[in-house]
Amino acid sequence: MTNKIRYFIANWKMYGDLSSLNSIQRVIKFSKLNKSKKFKIVYCPPYTLLNQFITKVKKSSIDVGAQNIHQNFDFGANTGFINSKMVKNLGAKYVILGHSENRELGEDNKHINKKILSAIKSKLTVIFCIGETLSQRKKNKTKIILKNQINFGLKGVNKRNKIIFAYEPVWSIGTGVIPNNIELEKNLKFIKSIVSKKFKEYKILYGGSVNPDNIKKLRKIDLLDGYLIGGASQSSKKLIDIIKKTFN
Ligand code: PGA
Repeated sequence: MTNKIRYFIANWKMYGDLSSLNSIQRVIKFSKLNKSKKFKIVYCPPYTLLNQFITKVKKSSIDVGAQNIHQNFDFGANTGFINSKMVKNLGAKYVILGHSENRELGEDNKHINKKILSAIKSKLTVIFCIGETLSQRKKNKTKIILKNQINFGLKGVNKRNKIIFAYEPVWSIGTGVIPNNIELEKNLKFIKSIVSKKFKEYKILYGGSVNPDNIKKLRKIDLLDGYLIGGASQSSKKLIDIIKKTFN
């Protein structure tokens, strides 16, 4: 395994309340005890917990990100939403954009592109989710879908910006099913072939049902810089297990 930094991004989705803050103590301790290992943990809790998480992880190497933002950079009459400046102002460093659960609600590549540009303007690091649905996969449309998501989503983004790509086959999210390594490597190589022409520095993560049982299989893929972890990341034990098994 190469010596590069590995990302473990915890996407808590619409889970968690104030009592969850105690549960991450274990992960904070783990990160402090394992400073020599090259990894970065980023918690993406719901908006309601962003501030508390940021305060809680302050003296550790853990960072915090939001799960989405509104597409408008400027403040405005957008009831129920928050913009990139608000997220940045709290002290968050990352934002997940283009997640399939939001694409399903109507976010298209154009919306996502605006969000990405806004996040970059606020100096947030973008975790850009891309991935095909099961029916697109069945119709052999994976490549064209990925290509469009990348090209339209990143329109106008400067070559020097650092984007973290999260390849998440939609059919893997929350299902317990992951692609086999051959299929996964094929799609990751395809993603790399596009993004390496667009960016100087980028990372590629895998997301979709990552857990302590399948991580040993996933870690064999050297192309990966880490994982976007949903369900399993809410358990500190599982998250620590995933990190440990990535290295040992
Ligand atoms: P999952 O979610 O690990 O629960 O499949 C991943 C994600 O949606 O980012």
